[in-house]
Amino acid sequence: MTTKTNILTDSFYRKHTYLRISLTERCNLRCTYCMPAEGSVLSPKEHIMTADEIYNIAKTFVKNGVTKIRLTGGEPLVRKDAISILEKLASLPVEIGITTNAVIVDKFIPTFKRLNIKLINVSLDSLDAGKFEQITRRNYFKKVYDNIILLVKEGFAVKLNAVLIKDFNDNEIINFIELTKNININIRFIEFMPFDGNQWNIKKMVSYQEIMAVVHDYFNNKNVIRLEDAQHDTSKNYKIKGYQGSFAIISSVTNPFCDSCNRLRLTANGHLKNCLFSATEQNLLSAYRKGDNVEHLIQKAIQGKFKVRGGMDTLQKLQEPKLHSKNRSMINIGG
Ligand code: GTP
Ligand code: 5AD
Ligand code: SF4
Repeated sequence: MTTKTNILTDSFYRKHTYLRISLTERCNLRCTYCMPAEGSVLSPKEHIMTADEIYNIAKTFVKNGVTKIRLTGGEPLVRKDAISILEKLASLPVEIGITTNAVIVDKFIPTFKRLNIKLINVSLDSLDAGKFEQITRRNYFKKVYDNIILLVKEGFAVKLNAVLIKDFNDNEIINFIELTKNININIRFIEFMPFDGNQWNIKKMVSYQEIMAVVHDYFNNKNVIRLEDAQHDTSKNYKIKGYQGSFAIISSVTNPFCDSCNRLRLTANGHLKNCLFSATEQNLLSAYRKGDNVEHLIQKAIQGKFKVRGGMDTLQKLQEPKLHSKNRSMINIGG
């Protein structure tokens, strides 16, 4: 019997069942590590996928085996037709997640409930209102914090993403973990990663090892419990004994998890990225608009996927500005 090759399986036999779709390049915050200081140039409106195009292209992926879709941005919820896109995607047989900065998420809670959308990841890099404003260049700390608490109260599975930067917010590790004492939330510390224009330097990054040293130093070793990670998790999960919530580390720099990668990315202008760090893209939207064979392009993109971090398989390569400047800035990828 011959097995039909699945177009979503790459040359390392990784099956891609998780599609991240960026709905917009716009954002209501201006995070310094995400957006270049000079601002980012937006794609012309006519190059951005419409709601129907998002739905139809997503359908092709689902037909070929995608079972989870996460919506990202920019900030996905600033898109005017966000609700109609959510409704269309929720009609597909997939689990849906959203990564948001939570500034306006409260207005969407009834929609999420109606559409059974439960997986909400929120970016929050500091518990200090002043520092929050310094990073995001906006004064929305209270709004964001209150919305996070509201999401947990309303029963959503909330993960909180904190990108740690040395000598800036790395003194907040314990404060973040203490939030999990009485709140059922998963706090994830993220190693700062290099993208175009984000002034990355390995010296600014706080590593998995450094974070765990702080944790072990503060909480007695026997109170730090290693949890089992889900199959395609980006994070290494832990909890403090007796605490309601948990915490985790996303260590793409010092400990890449590419072997178990199941992710693909569709940018707001309809380009398929086979990896977060890929420098090459396939323009699915223009093919779709011309009526060309989109599946053929998807297959081509997946066959070209590197084993590790878009080809930057060593720390040395990751530190070469020439290599990561070929990639987009984070605001145009969506994480
Ligand atoms: P789950 O669906 O909950 O697993 O979410 P997630 O962790 O994939 O996504 P989220 O949007 O919350 O991103 C959290 C962090 O993980 C961000 O810094 C992302 O850039 C990073 N991340 C997400 N997907 C990948 C990936 O495929 N590779 C790497 N290296 N990092 C990723
Ligand atoms: N390194 C690591 N994570 C980043 N994010 C944005 N920029 C970076 C970076 N340079 C995270 C945000 C958001 C997620 C989608 O990506 O914190 O939660
Ligand atoms: Fe997958 Fe690329 Fe992320 Fe590695 S760096 S896990 S290959 S998307």
